[in-house]
Amino acid sequence: VTALRLRDLLVDLAGSECEFVVIGSSALAIQGWDVVPTDLDLMTSREEITKIIDLLGVNESQARWVEDGQARRLECDTGLGPVDLYVAVSGEFSYDAVANEAVSVALGETGQQVKVGSLAHVRDMRAAVGRDVLPRGAVAPAAKTGTPRVIAIDGPAGAGKSTVSRAVAEELGFAYLDTGAMYRCVALSVAEKRADTDDPKVIAEIADAVDIRFVGEHVFLGERDVSTAIRATDITKVTAHIAAYPEVRQAMVARQRQMFSEGTFVAEGRDTGTVVAPDAPLKIFLTATSEERALRRSSETGEAFELVLTAIEERDQLDSARELSALRIAEDAVMIDTTGRLIEVVVQEIVELAHDRAIL
Ligand code: DC
Repeated sequence: VTALRLRDLLVDLAGSECEFVVIGSSALAIQGWDVVPTDLDLMTSREEITKIIDLLGVNESQARWVEDGQARRLECDTGLGPVDLYVAVSGEFSYDAVANEAVSVALGETGQQVKVGSLAHVRDMRAAVGRDVLPRGAVAPAAKTGTPRVIAIDGPAGAGKSTVSRAVAEELGFAYLDTGAMYRCVALSVAEKRADTDDPKVIAEIADAVDIRFVGEHVFLGERDVSTAIRATDITKVTAHIAAYPEVRQAMVARQRQMFSEGTFVAEGRDTGTVVAPDAPLKIFLTATSEERALRRSSETGEAFELVLTAIEERDQLDSARELSALRIAEDAVMIDTTGRLIEVVVQEIVELAHDRAIL
């Protein structure tokens, strides 16, 4: 409701003589992103402030100046929702600089033009005021076209898939899907039901019925947050075992395809580029030496290096040896070896590939 009322307010402002640039999540919403702004962030000059607050009908008691590091804004409570008027964000973002690079966008059917900060501005400004570069859950306009746009990031355990995939998703404003977590949920359910892990029929029934949900960074099994439970060592073992059943794979692949048909994802897994989304416009195969992968895992979990190394090599063996959806490199995948490389550099490499292929 607030978003709608803020939109009315913006339509009024756009029809006025006031000069401003829409920034923040509202700028994304105007440009077709799937995001629900809870306030209207505008950047303007000091001279325009009086005109704007007049137009908003805001009196002194409804407005206060907030200094937030280098950012300076007038926070206004309007009858239609909160409006923040920024006169400065940081040294680099003066109103003039932002206005110069802003783009004009027509406001839906009204045909009125408003100046909107570019995506780069929105991201840089959010970062400048200490927020995530993109609002959580914001989905890029491309996601709404109906074409599945998936960046597939496959590779063996410990190659850095999770960290890299999350960061790439955040940079591009795509949703992130951890397909391994789905297999882990099936395994957890199997373990909790004390089902016979060697009985494909029972395991298949569980895989079909399991209720997996992703909420932000968390994974839910039904109503329960199982983000930690699915990573327990014994569950990891069960996962590698049950993930080899064709019935389990079919059930998970069907769910993944369904999700891809509804949004734009960075999906990490083993068979995303080869089986689940063979049409993915960008496929990455991340690797690292088994020693490096073991080192990363053991410093994360505190387990002994030798033990982790053995476990990783065993898991590689299981993942590669199964007949269905074995871990293999798609012909058109870009292979990236992360051994000895900084995660940030790998992330930038993938983001650039996404730009090159015009996936945005
Ligand atoms: O990525 P991960 O460590 O969370 O994966 C857990 C297990 O699930 C691992 O043994 C491989 C398997 N898996 C799979 O078979 N297919 C996927 N798409 C993802 C994971």
